[in-house]
Amino acid sequence: MRPRQLTAGVSALGAIDWNRRLFDSLVPLPDGTSYNVYLVEGQERTALFDAVDPKCVDELMTQLDAVPRVDYVVAHHAEQDHSGTIPDILERYSEARVVATPKGKGMLMDHLHIAEDRFITVEDGETLSLGDKTLEFIHTPWVHWPETMVTYLREDRILMSCDFFGSHLATTDLYVTDESRVYEAAKRYYAEIMMPFRQIIRRNLDKLDGREIDLIAPSHGPIYPNPSFIIDAYRDWISDTPRNLVVLPYISMHGSTQAMVDHLVDALTARGVTVQPFDLSVTDIGKLAITLVDAATLIVGTPTVHIGPHPSVVYAAHLANALRPKLRYATVIGSYGWSSRAIEQVAAMIPNLKVELFDPVLVRGYPVAETFEALDSLADKIAEQHRAAGWT
Ligand code: FEO
Repeated sequence: MRPRQLTAGVSALGAIDWNRRLFDSLVPLPDGTSYNVYLVEGQERTALFDAVDPKCVDELMTQLDAVPRVDYVVAHHAEQDHSGTIPDILERYSEARVVATPKGKGMLMDHLHIAEDRFITVEDGETLSLGDKTLEFIHTPWVHWPETMVTYLREDRILMSCDFFGSHLATTDLYVTDESRVYEAAKRYYAEIMMPFRQIIRRNLDKLDGREIDLIAPSHGPIYPNPSFIIDAYRDWISDTPRNLVVLPYISMHGSTQAMVDHLVDALTARGVTVQPFDLSVTDIGKLAITLVDAATLIVGTPTVHIGPHPSVVYAAHLANALRPKLRYATVIGSYGWSSRAIEQVAAMIPNLKVELFDPVLVRGYPVAETFEALDSLADKIAEQHRAAGWT
C-alpha cells in the first residue's frame, strides 16, 4: 500500500492484513485487520506514530524509503502489532527517539530490548513541537494495556488513538464509508479488549472533551471523519444501563439442554424479552462478546460432563467473567445423566460479575412438563425484572 495524505504534512502508512483470522491466539478476526502508521512532517521535525506487526516490516520499510529523516517514533502502545517493528525503524534512523509514557518505556524495553537512551518519556498533557505542528500527549490507560496514550495533533485537529476506537477491519477505504460495518467491528474490539475497564474508559473519554477533533485516526481499521459516530458509540457501550436482552451461551450433547434452550428462548420472546442464544459448538466467540456489551441477563446452558459443566461452557463462563460486562442477573440451566455439580461450578466461575442469581433449572435426562414450567417461571421473573428496571 502506498502512503496516503490526510492533510498537509500528515500521511497514513502501514499495512492491511487481509487474511489474519486470530489475534493474541485468542480473538477471532473475521474481517482481517490493519496496522495503521501515521507520519507527521513538521517544519522542523518529523514524527512517526506507531509501527506495524513484525510480519509486515518489509512493507513499512519500503514506505519509509521516501522519508529521509524521522526524529520521533511515538509508541502509543507497547503491544507488538504496533511496536514490533520499532527496532527496525530505530536502526534505520539512528537519531530517532521513541516517545512513550513512562510505563510504556519500561514495557518496550522489556518486550523489545530497546536501549534506554533511545527514549523520551512524556507525562499526561505534555506537548512536543515539530515546528509548525504541536503534539499533545494524553495518557489513556487500559486502551488496551496500562501504558497506553493517544496524541492530539492540535493544528490539524487529528486524534491518533492507536487501539482506542479501533476496529479489526481490513479495507482499502482510508475513511469510514459504511458506518454499520465499522460499528460492529469496533464494538467487537471494544468488547474483547476494553470492556473490563469500562470505568477507566469513561474517564479517558472525558479527557477528550473540549477538544475540537476533525479526524480520529486509529491504528486498526479506517479513519473516522465523523468522530462523534464512534465517540457516541463508546458512550453507549460504557453506560451502566443494560438493554432488555438475555445472552444465552450453551452446549447440548444429546438434545436435553437444546430442548430447554429452545423452550426458554420462545418463552422469553413471548414475554417481550430479546434473547440471543449462542451454540458454543459453532459460535464465533467475538459475537458472544459483542452481545455481552449490552445484555442484562446471562443464562448459561450446559449438559454435565464428569459431574461438571461442559468444557466449552467453562470457556464461555470464564470469558464472561474476564470481560466483566454490565450484567445484572445470571443463572444456569442444563441437564445431567446420573449426578451433577455443574450449577455450583459455573456459579463459582463468575465472581467478577456483580449479578443477582435467579434459581437454576436442572433436569435429569430429557426435560419433562415440570422442567418446562420451571423455565416459564424463570422467563416470568426475567421479564418482570427487566420491565421493572425500565430496560428497553
Ligand atoms: Fe492493536 Fe493492543 O494492540
